[in-house]
Amino acid sequence: MIRFIEDKDEKRKISRKILEALKEWFEVDESREQFIRESADQPFWAAFENDVPAGFLCLKETGKATMELAVMGVRKEFHRHGVGRRLFAAAKDYASLKGYSFIQVKTVRSGMYEDYDKTNEFYRSLGFKELEVFEEYWDEANPCQVYVMSLKSAIDTISVRHSYRGRFSSDPVPRKDLIAIANAGINAPSGCNKQTTDLVVVDDPATLDAVKAVIDPPLAQTAPAFIVVLTRRINAYRDKCFAIQDYSAAIENMLLAIVELGYQSCWYEGHITDDDRICDKIASVLGVPEGYDVVCVLPVGKAADDFHAPSKKPFGERVKFNRFGED
Ligand SMILES: Cc1cc2nc3c(=O)[nH]c(=O)nc-3n(C[C@H](O)[C@H](O)[C@H](O)COP(=O)(O)O)c2cc1C
Repeated sequence: MIRFIEDKDEKRKISRKILEALKEWFEVDESREQFIRESADQPFWAAFENDVPAGFLCLKETGKATMELAVMGVRKEFHRHGVGRRLFAAAKDYASLKGYSFIQVKTVRSGMYEDYDKTNEFYRSLGFKELEVFEEYWDEANPCQVYVMSLKSAIDTISVRHSYRGRFSSDPVPRKDLIAIANAGINAPSGCNKQTTDLVVVDDPATLDAVKAVIDPPLAQTAPAFIVVLTRRINAYRDKCFAIQDYSAAIENMLLAIVELGYQSCWYEGHITDDDRICDKIASVLGVPEGYDVVCVLPVGKAADDFHAPSKKPFGERVKFNRFGED
């Protein structure tokens, strides 16, 4: 089980227990003590086996776009049990959700010591790529290999997107980011390229308040921007209208762009299209003309609360290869 640890004493206790058992990697007392001290102030995950710490990992920010895997240790008896992989997955999700673009990690380069060769192999197996070797960063006997991993692949963004319904920080969303998000929306595919989806981006505080005022029960009251999604029932061919598919593709593109830029959102459609027709009230506030329907509101802003992924059915229950019912 992986747990995010917040208590500083617990962090120090766990990191000491693990690092002191890993003398092959952490033999220098002074640097080991420094790792333990610093770990108390860093985002910290511990892996437990039968309630006993089996390993831990902590991150530190090394630049606005980058987190470093500051230190990681897994007790030797748990090597090759997937503990390190699970710790890393939790830390990677965290760094992505916080909007970082890269994770880096430093180690002694391959070809020097057998134990570190295994460490290099482990990092490469996680997907880290060699960035550069600094021969004298530590000392000649320990050339420093820097590995880096991008957190911005489409697949990474998809895997860390979750509906966010918490409070937002008051930081405004810059226009350039709202434009990038809206562009992601209008660049989505549409049936016969009819482009039936339009958007109203609301970042003017007075207009935002007017929109929020007609949403009852309220939602995303603290969001600094809304993207309101409009659709038009234009047939793609004969009597086929793909407007729902079109705006769904646009919304998903925007949700992914929102997360990639370090913001959070939620697809609010059910809430505003129910019998009380909040959508029509929003349309009226925004001066939306006849022929366009408001179908969804996407709040945009930085998360101020923590949040967790909802549980999803297991892969095998929803995905079949070749034939329904086959494993
Ligand atoms: C068509 C549609 C309508 C939705 N409407 C609402 C809504 O009105 N209120 C809400 O809180 N979430 C709404 N959601 C978000 C879903 O509840 C959410 O996607 C689902 O619980 C799965 O969680 P995830 O987005 O974190 O994977 C809607 C999602 C879709 C696709």
